[in-house]
Amino acid sequence: MIRVRTDGAISWVSEREVDRLGDQFGSLHQRLWDRTRDSGKKGWLYWPQEDHEAEWQAVEQIAEQFRSMADAAVIVGIGGSYLGARAALSMLRPVPEWALGRDLLITFAGHQLSEEYLARLITALDDREVAVVVISKSGSTLEPAAAFHLLRGYLERRYGQGAKERICVITDPESSSLLDYARERGYALLSVPPNIGGRYSVLTAVGMLPMALAGIDIRAVMRGARQAWEECQKPSPFDNASYLYAACRHLLYLQGFTAEALVTYEPRLGKFAEWWQQLFGESHGKNGKGLFPTVLRYTTDLHSLGQYVQDGRRLLFETVLHLGSRNISPGLVVPGDVDRSAQRMAGRRLADVQEEAVKAVMEAHRSGGVPNLLIEATGPETELFGELVFFFEVACAMGGYLLAVDPFDQPGVEAYKRELDLRLAAANDLLNR
Ligand code: PA5
Repeated sequence: MIRVRTDGAISWVSEREVDRLGDQFGSLHQRLWDRTRDSGKKGWLYWPQEDHEAEWQAVEQIAEQFRSMADAAVIVGIGGSYLGARAALSMLRPVPEWALGRDLLITFAGHQLSEEYLARLITALDDREVAVVVISKSGSTLEPAAAFHLLRGYLERRYGQGAKERICVITDPESSSLLDYARERGYALLSVPPNIGGRYSVLTAVGMLPMALAGIDIRAVMRGARQAWEECQKPSPFDNASYLYAACRHLLYLQGFTAEALVTYEPRLGKFAEWWQQLFGESHGKNGKGLFPTVLRYTTDLHSLGQYVQDGRRLLFETVLHLGSRNISPGLVVPGDVDRSAQRMAGRRLADVQEEAVKAVMEAHRSGGVPNLLIEATGPETELFGELVFFFEVACAMGGYLLAVDPFDQPGVEAYKRELDLRLAAANDLLNR
């Protein structure tokens, strides 16, 4: 279950203001859920309540095949084809369980252009049996394409004809430039639906195959998303937590705040926050508009950026993403025989000390002029991941409508891709002359 608490922002965002914005929500709610509007971009909106059983069986079959033949899987992708899977694995399979390779080692590539990174990764793979999943909706993005072809070459040198059994391509079945190549070579294929954009795609095979490889119950993820879907049918921000969050952040934007920090206290939520950052950054940052989304990892960052947050230029508000559950048992209790300075924690669980820190930081920052929103998420965590994803996706779409921008395109990203392609083509011409 997800609840949004606004007490820490009450001096900036009153119930009356949310209520006033609520009038706008009525028509925006209709626009969002109208299947005939933006239909080519809203496949994600209906996804949780549709039947994808055939797709999940294909995902599980490939995951099973890779798990039986490999002890390392490299997931190749960038942006929306990378961050969701990374968020899920970090949140639900935190180190050391999966990263230290107790089971299948899952690692990532193609999310930058570092030759050093890839060379080191390939060397490390020599000791393992390897499978590669390449995720690219367009099939033409430079970073994953470079990593994929280098890894493919590596697999072919190691496994010869058998390399093709170890590659799965996840791409758009209608318009991807990778599709024919994958078909000709006989790779396993899964789809990114044409009407679901990259950053909204984590609940499709894009996120689900990496999750299945990591042993995460993908049906439980979808159950959580379905729960959020039900919640999101309510038109009023007072009944719909996703809309309430969209309303509050929009009201703060209108008051001149220019940046929103998603604050996490659990290291395993850091990657989730990066997924959130891309979702909102790419969806809203256009036409000179939008909050700059940033991520703060507390309490670590309180000792680096805390000074600025408390006392620096007043441009930022915080949204604290707080998980209600404690999955550590029996728990860590600070011993009673501590030195004098640690006496205030003696005999208390570390988790309780952290709870106090959450409250203290919110209060200190609020009184320093930093509004605080609190998103409390409770329940079984696999379901919760799906619930949180859908909760934020809907808030993001609504936020885009409130800002009067298209929350589903990313013309700015395309501009850099075009420029880079031109430069590489020019360099290639020179070489071939
Ligand atoms: O959200 C988006 O649309 C982008 O971040 C893309 O996911 C990213 O640019 C990668 O594109 P592709 O999946 O086509 O390789």
